[in-house]
Amino acid sequence: MYDLDVLDEIGPATRICLEEAGFRSLRDLVIRGANDVANATGINIDKCSSMCNKARLKLEDLGIYDKPFVPATLIYDRRKLENRISSGSKNLDNLLGGGFETKSVTELYGEFGTGKTQICHTLCVTVQKNSKTARPNQRALYIDTENTFRPERIVSIANARKLDPTSVLENIIVAKAFNSSHQEVIIEEAAHVIQLHGIRLLLIDSAVSLYRAEFLGRPLLMERQQRMNRFLHMLLRIAEICSVAVVITNQILSSPDALFGDSIRPSGGNIMGHTTTYRIFLRRAGKNRIARMVDSPYHAEREVIFTLNEQGIGDPQES
Ligand SMILES: Nc1ncnc2c1ncn2[C@@H]1O[C@H](COP(=O)(O)OP(=O)(O)O)[C@@H](O)[C@H]1O
Ligand SMILES: [Mg+2]
Repeated sequence: MYDLDVLDEIGPATRICLEEAGFRSLRDLVIRGANDVANATGINIDKCSSMCNKARLKLEDLGIYDKPFVPATLIYDRRKLENRISSGSKNLDNLLGGGFETKSVTELYGEFGTGKTQICHTLCVTVQKNSKTARPNQRALYIDTENTFRPERIVSIANARKLDPTSVLENIIVAKAFNSSHQEVIIEEAAHVIQLHGIRLLLIDSAVSLYRAEFLGRPLLMERQQRMNRFLHMLLRIAEICSVAVVITNQILSSPDALFGDSIRPSGGNIMGHTTTYRIFLRRAGKNRIARMVDSPYHAEREVIFTLNEQGIGDPQES
């Protein structure tokens, strides 16, 4: 249905060219965009723009991508159908208006040890909550850039939540990224994997660490921001077109010279701020953790408390 053949301008030669460069479907064209398609295939940019535009129109016709100029009521009704993924903590779900939202990118940032990776592990399990056995559209794709994915932790979270750990593990697909280029290749392939395996949740833990490690200092800052910008925009389009919840983690920068205002900021600069839909700041509060909604198109800025436990994350016991 989303096959490249439906576009008239894709003849056999163009098709081979696209497929060799990894473009298999209309979704791939829209997610990557004309410049990327031209760079990867060597096809003339005008032709790529035309193909990408037509691909987008087809996705609009199929109801996969929103048409431009639609009444707000339609968007409102459609958003009610979007489902949310429970985090395992009622408080955190409340902060998010019911859980992590599909078709959006949610960013978790905070110091090390504040629970970013624990939330990602827990979500891999809670996304499957309704399925005792492998079921389509309940799976998670975990992109691990810091080598912190631990199947043992998944097993213990699954056990604590009375789920069969083996089938829970079967429903989690893990991709380890070794460097930023590899991380980008994984994302370029992601739409295909999402469709093939029925993925509903895409996690990138962390989205920025490889870029920060590889592009050091001011001379490389511009290139780093450009690469991150391309990566994050691909994520946004994947979220929307593939109807998955995207959750990314981010580190913080502390600026000792900031006398006024926030001395703790998420890394990634404006690019990160402009592309993520929701930003949640995590910090320690003794044994518990505080999550603050820092940026959201419709939530007020407020804080909730959650805890790290055998079930992954949960709510502190009321005393
Ligand atoms: N099984 C567990 N039960 C309770 N807390 C845990 C468990 N495993 C790890 N933690 C806690 O999770 C914290 C680390 O959180 P993590 O998500 O890895 O941080 P980061 O924000 O750096 O990704 C540690 O404080 C650790 O004590
Ligand atoms: Mg971590």
